[in-house]
Amino acid sequence: MSWLEYHSKTAHRAPRRTLCRALDLFEAEPAPSAASTTHSSALELGCGGGRDTVEMLRRGWSVLAIDSEPTAIDYLLRRSDLTHRERLTTECARFEAIPLPTSRLICSSFALPLCPPPSFFQLWSRIGDALLPGGRFAGHFFGERDSWNHGHAPHQGLTFVSADQAHDLLAPYQIEMFEEEESDSTTPRGESKHWHVMHIVAQKR
Ligand SMILES: C[S@@+](CC[C@H](N)C(=O)[O-])C[C@H]1O[C@@H](n2cnc3c(N)ncnc32)[C@H](O)[C@@H]1O
Repeated sequence: MSWLEYHSKTAHRAPRRTLCRALDLFEAEPAPSAASTTHSSALELGCGGGRDTVEMLRRGWSVLAIDSEPTAIDYLLRRSDLTHRERLTTECARFEAIPLPTSRLICSSFALPLCPPPSFFQLWSRIGDALLPGGRFAGHFFGERDSWNHGHAPHQGLTFVSADQAHDLLAPYQIEMFEEEESDSTTPRGESKHWHVMHIVAQKR
């Protein structure tokens, strides 16, 4: 299955609940007294066809959406439900290879683990540097019992972490959601798979 087919199949699903929880938590906070340009700036790493980007725009955020696949960015920009286009910037790039702007929200759904451990751990540290204090990360890690961790190519070059490692990575954050999911299902590409996924929302202290 090409990425274009993948995005056609998945991009119009509801926004991820990790993202929705982070947006709800921001909305429950008092508005910052001096609104700055960064106070509603969000960064999405691995935006795919845009199911989360569209929601962030709809809920008032300015979004820099990054994906390494040109088809993902094209798909996002052609969506009929894309609103507030003036608050969206897109970049076609590998997220481990570009500077990350200062942001109040960094969203990365099912995308960060798609790079090998050295890049993943460096990127995680750069996410922490880019987030403003009080800012939030919403996204997913892959757990070590995920079946892709036990296969061969093309799943080499991904990063899997234990729950303890995930908690170590989240030490600079207040954890607001940490749900480990283990389930057997079929991927949008039609592959049977054991998922071990950590659903995470965390606020930088
Ligand atoms: C599984 S899809 C998830 C898409 C979307 N975030 C969602 O939740 O449906 C992963 C996306 O990450 C992108 N991606 C994978 N590795 C990447 C990298 N190193 N840099 C930027 N984007 C990457 C892929 O092109 C793909 O669009």
